[in-house]
Amino acid sequence: MSIPSLRILLVGNGGREHALAWKLVQSSHVEHIYVVPGNGGTAGFPNKVTNVQNVKADDFPALVAFARDNSLNFLVPGPEAPLVAGIVDYFAQHLPDVKSFGPNEAAARMEGSKAFSKDFMKDHNIPTAAYENFSDYEQAKAYLDSIDHDVVIKADGLAAGKGVIIPQTKEEAVQALKDIMLTREFGSAGDTVVIEELLVGEECSILTFSDGYNIASLPPAQDHKRIFDDDKGPNTGGMGTYAPTGVVSAQENDDIHKSILQATVDGMRNSGNLFIGCLFTGLMMTKAGPKVLEYNVRFGDPETQSVLTLLESDLAELMYSCTTNSLSSLGPINISSRAAATVVVAAGGYPGSYAKGTPMTLSETPEDTVIFHAGTDIKDGQLVTSGGRVIASTATGPTLKEAVARAYEGVQTIKFEGMQFRKDIAKRALK
Ligand SMILES: Nc1ncnc2c1ncn2[C@@H]1O[C@H](COP(=O)(O)OP(=O)(O)O)[C@@H](O)[C@H]1O
Ligand SMILES: [Mg+2]
Repeated sequence: MSIPSLRILLVGNGGREHALAWKLVQSSHVEHIYVVPGNGGTAGFPNKVTNVQNVKADDFPALVAFARDNSLNFLVPGPEAPLVAGIVDYFAQHLPDVKSFGPNEAAARMEGSKAFSKDFMKDHNIPTAAYENFSDYEQAKAYLDSIDHDVVIKADGLAAGKGVIIPQTKEEAVQALKDIMLTREFGSAGDTVVIEELLVGEECSILTFSDGYNIASLPPAQDHKRIFDDDKGPNTGGMGTYAPTGVVSAQENDDIHKSILQATVDGMRNSGNLFIGCLFTGLMMTKAGPKVLEYNVRFGDPETQSVLTLLESDLAELMYSCTTNSLSSLGPINISSRAAATVVVAAGGYPGSYAKGTPMTLSETPEDTVIFHAGTDIKDGQLVTSGGRVIASTATGPTLKEAVARAYEGVQTIKFEGMQFRKDIAKRALK
């Protein structure tokens, strides 16, 4: 496959985007990356990556103008919001020569609407929790009254990871419905709710490259969503990951590939929603087999940090081939046999309120370790915090145990006031 020299527009400012930039600059096909807006980490490749802070990441006309003025030819939207808002369609319309690694607005409904994705799974026989969708409170309440199993209640639209409630009692379930549908806690994202069966098991997530027809996946990863050790405290954007996870056996991984991942990409294409980009499939490994919890339509954060350190293939080739229906011409994707672990370091108080602008210092990074920035910025030459999940240490090792130990060595090189991180990343897997 011949690939043009890529001049990339990367949208986002998280750890995921730093990891994508870190991996993309290793490709000889990548001439330059412009990150809108980027962070303190993406500022660390001065000859290859430029942070662009005078263009707003959600201003599509300004992004198109920037791409045109700088002769960019490849778009990589990092987060879900621009994808769900149709950035890929907008670029296709205004700059058709720019290829986009990501789904169009119609295909991005897989993440933008949980009701859409549930109906999709039902239509295509993809295993998922039993469910019903509701846009009327009284009907939703009547349904709750009619069932006697534990449920999960989900706002349909994007809710920044806060739209899923796991009630402990019937009263809490009714309250959740009221909060979402009557008080409209998530605005129009709660116009529809999904009420689904509570599944029990270990979770994992798989990132899959798709050119709309063929797929190639990265090793299954496990995230740690709660802020405190032993899965205590409120949910966060993710406090650490490791990969590959042993909660999926090789046999199960093969089955997931055929009956879930390939079936999803085929079902999308056959229903007129060709899926190009990275499909994130969240799975629950239940006694009755793997079931899909949700789809995201972009790389996960912080899964990406772990799995990209295991990817030996050229990321730019993989991404480009997804946009030209030529993923299969690349041959099998090369994955290291090592293990990877990521420990996220957050600001004190996160996921509640937290300070910003705290000065940070980083000392020399240990071998086989990468420090991926997320909520960092450079102010007057000083590295400072600028978000809740501030930075992460990702390490690889010949075993998971060694990867985790290395990642924690990496954490020791990070210093700022109030920093907090979990001490038990991958602990259950190491038992
Ligand atoms: N049916 C379910 N049974 C048990 N837990 C669930 C179920 N659906 C979601 N969860 C839990 O809630 C979390 C968030 O749900 P998810 O569907 O991934 O939404 P989002 O990531 O958009 O908040 C999951 O990671 C999982 O831990
Ligand atoms: Mg999720």
